[in-house]
Amino acid sequence: MSEAVAPTGAAATAVRCDALVHVYGVVGQEVTALRGVDLEVGSGEMVALLGPSGAGKSTLLWILAGLMRPTAGLVEVYGRNLRNISAAEATDIRLREVGIVMQNPARNLLSHETAIGNVMFAQRPTRRRYRTKRTRALDLLEAVGLRSVGTRPAGRLSGGEQQRLAVAVALANGPRLLLADEPTSQLDRASADAVVDLIRAANADLGTTVVAVTHDPEVGAALGRTVTIRDGRVGGEGRGGQEYIVVGRDGSVQLRDDLLEVLPPGSLAQARRTSEGIELRPVPTDGEETPGTGSDI
Ligand SMILES: Nc1ncnc2c1ncn2[C@@H]1O[C@H](COP(=O)(O)OP(=O)(O)O)[C@@H](O)[C@H]1O
Ligand SMILES: [Mg+2]
Repeated sequence: MSEAVAPTGAAATAVRCDALVHVYGVVGQEVTALRGVDLEVGSGEMVALLGPSGAGKSTLLWILAGLMRPTAGLVEVYGRNLRNISAAEATDIRLREVGIVMQNPARNLLSHETAIGNVMFAQRPTRRRYRTKRTRALDLLEAVGLRSVGTRPAGRLSGGEQQRLAVAVALANGPRLLLADEPTSQLDRASADAVVDLIRAANADLGTTVVAVTHDPEVGAALGRTVTIRDGRVGGEGRGGQEYIVVGRDGSVQLRDDLLEVLPPGSLAQARRTSEGIELRPVPTDGEETPGTGSDI
């Protein structure tokens, strides 16, 4: 072994999900939103969560935020098991250590409070003085291009402005963990880039760990690592522009959309080992040529 010892526990790992399951609803009307999510996010890492609508991305974010308890499985944030902490502890962690941007921007804001007031209010758990809070608020609003509307009530801002304000609010305390649900969905390219720059600055300056749901490939690329969720499971990962399949605990693999065009759901395939790995071939349907020796399935 090398001399360098990896930091252990809380220091190294920001988020850990192990066989995480979440079921909504009452008996007889259950919806399984997460069906065994395994995910580890290192401290200071940035991850984009991708995946189709209904895949379970928001559910995962809500659980990581301590807003919901999972039905089963392990979820740890900076070494704390979120299933074992009280609601009061969860609230305290959220206020002090976690920045959250919910999917509906207005839900993150006090609508009657000004934009400046919203960013100042978010800093109430800190010991900063009034002037410090105000300066911080103005700096954050500047960074997302909202300085000129700082004195306007949040409720009177446009959807895109509210979204940018929500990111400023979430970063106000310099959180250890930022959880953002489609934080650029209502923004044009320039505003989206400003938001991403601000998030990356928090990551670079403070080591803020970032988990952000997004449909924007440019946001995904800017964060570096992507994790694709389909049907409540992690099916793929991307790093440095390269896409990988994640083999599930049960040996299952999820095929990307472009591969599903070759092998649509429900189709039969032949799998065989080759010298380089595994080859998957569609089994020709009736009337076409029959496949070769059938020892490989
Ligand atoms: N409060 C809820 N009650 C019942 N089902 C829900 C609730 N919220 C989400 N779901 C269902 O859980 C699944 C995952 O939803 P969600 O986490 O919102 O997915 P995503 O954010 O990837 O679009 C979907 O089938 C959705 O309909
Ligand atoms: Mg969602």
